Amino acid sequence: MQHQQCLIIDFGSQYTQLIAKTVRRLNIFSEIVPCTITWEEFQQRNPRAVILSGSPWSITRPDAPVLDPRILAAEMPMLGICYGMQLLVQAGGGKVIAAKKKEYGRARIHIEDRDSIFRGLDSEEEVWMSHGDAVQTLPEGFRRIARSDNSPFAAIMHESRPVWALQFHPEVANTPHGAIMIENFCDIAGFSLDWTPTSFIESTVADIRAQVGEDRVILGLSGGVDSSVVAALLHKAVGEQLVPILVDTGLLRQDEAGQVREAFQQAFGMELIVIDAASTFFERLAGVADPEYKRKIIGKTFIEIFEAEAARYPDARFLAQGTLYPDIIESVSFKGPSATIKSHHNVGGLPEQMNLELVEPLRELFKDEVREVGRKLGLPGLLVNRHPFPGPGLAIRIISDVTREKAELLQRIDVIFIDELHEAGLYDSTWQAFAVLLPIQSVGVMGDERTYENVCALRAVCSTDGMTADWTEFPHWFLKRVSNRIINEVRGVNRVVYDISSKPPATIEWE
Ligand code: XMP
Repeated sequence: MQHQQCLIIDFGSQYTQLIAKTVRRLNIFSEIVPCTITWEEFQQRNPRAVILSGSPWSITRPDAPVLDPRILAAEMPMLGICYGMQLLVQAGGGKVIAAKKKEYGRARIHIEDRDSIFRGLDSEEEVWMSHGDAVQTLPEGFRRIARSDNSPFAAIMHESRPVWALQFHPEVANTPHGAIMIENFCDIAGFSLDWTPTSFIESTVADIRAQVGEDRVILGLSGGVDSSVVAALLHKAVGEQLVPILVDTGLLRQDEAGQVREAFQQAFGMELIVIDAASTFFERLAGVADPEYKRKIIGKTFIEIFEAEAARYPDARFLAQGTLYPDIIESVSFKGPSATIKSHHNVGGLPEQMNLELVEPLRELFKDEVREVGRKLGLPGLLVNRHPFPGPGLAIRIISDVTREKAELLQRIDVIFIDELHEAGLYDSTWQAFAVLLPIQSVGVMGDERTYENVCALRAVCSTDGMTADWTEFPHWFLKRVSNRIINEVRGVNRVVYDISSKPPATIEWE
């Protein structure tokens, strides 16, 4: 099914994804393309409306990114944001100059026309400005609809064409009513609001059937959200043709492989192939303390085992992967006037020599949309609301060398922390939480006995994408409870510490 599309043309702004997310929340399909898009590609996409993003470039520079003028003149609703505004102004014959001072931060705009894009808003609104250039004179046909102290042209619109332009950023949370402005724009464009989890599932199931036909599809399941949703979608589309393989590395959380197997059994009557490869992983990791070397060994071993299992299905033609939209835009977005656009690379890391065609049913989705689709498909909360878990698993949470005994000890610690988070209702508001086994021993006292045992650290962070993170300020009673339980219930641990480092400069994982 072809969804009506709001096309976002990217000039390299750090906020471009936020524009797409805001539009998609309105149940409108929105995709991001680089500003190097050709007129032919643009026509092929046939969008219903266009939004031009901001940019780190100054339009006054000779190497500033441009757009095919036929796109700018296209007869359809268009919204220019920041750089996008300046581009519309310059292309129409108006003037943009480099301002003496960059305007960055909160500002108040005074709205002069509270209709169309500003419908339902107050005459004074708070907005987020981030620009170095400013519109000096308007092109013919445009008029001002809002101003601020620093920007005489904070918002403009065309008198007869459905074109608006904003100097500020409506897509960021610091413009509290920005989403309403984007909604008003989309309303005017008359979208049919057909981008919903249900419509996504219907069209994707049909697409998968068309792509896969009668052939087999192999899938590596990790138990994480993405691969779980891929599994559920493929199962719905092609049933038994799916070969879902879960490699138990021995470095998963306690009973994780069993829980995931059971969850799929119960929700869909689907049988996972669980390969117990723990011994191989522990053998190969013996004596290895270097984190990067651990990662390499685990990655290589995983692929070997996965390939060996997949080889049992010589008629398989497809490999399914949970590639998400941010992985795709990361490789197609506009990076700079001289940047070549990279083609999307296989982010899963499985080798090309597997000679299988890729099925990537989530390649149009953001992470929160994946969760929604998962819920709609009937995946249990256990799988849909999971914290992120790194591919190398507990190996990078065991500082120094990895053994089966240490992994099992860490699993016992970790499960207490996670259970208590659920119990206290804190799991879902925490972005990621886990325990780390430290390579030191500390002195303690138990009864009359001196002990000399392991120390573990607890780590919990809030974040939106893992790129930056803050340590979570849990209530003290909660930390006390978790610590007491770990020390009383896990033999071999006599001290618990809580990690209070933010990222940057620390990272989320310890290795
Ligand atoms: P850092 O430690 O870099 O972690 O702040 C950011 C996010 O990435 C996860 N992470 C990994 N995920 N393979 C993965 O699949 C890895 O090697 C890896 N290292 C870190 C980490 O759990 C956090 O969510």
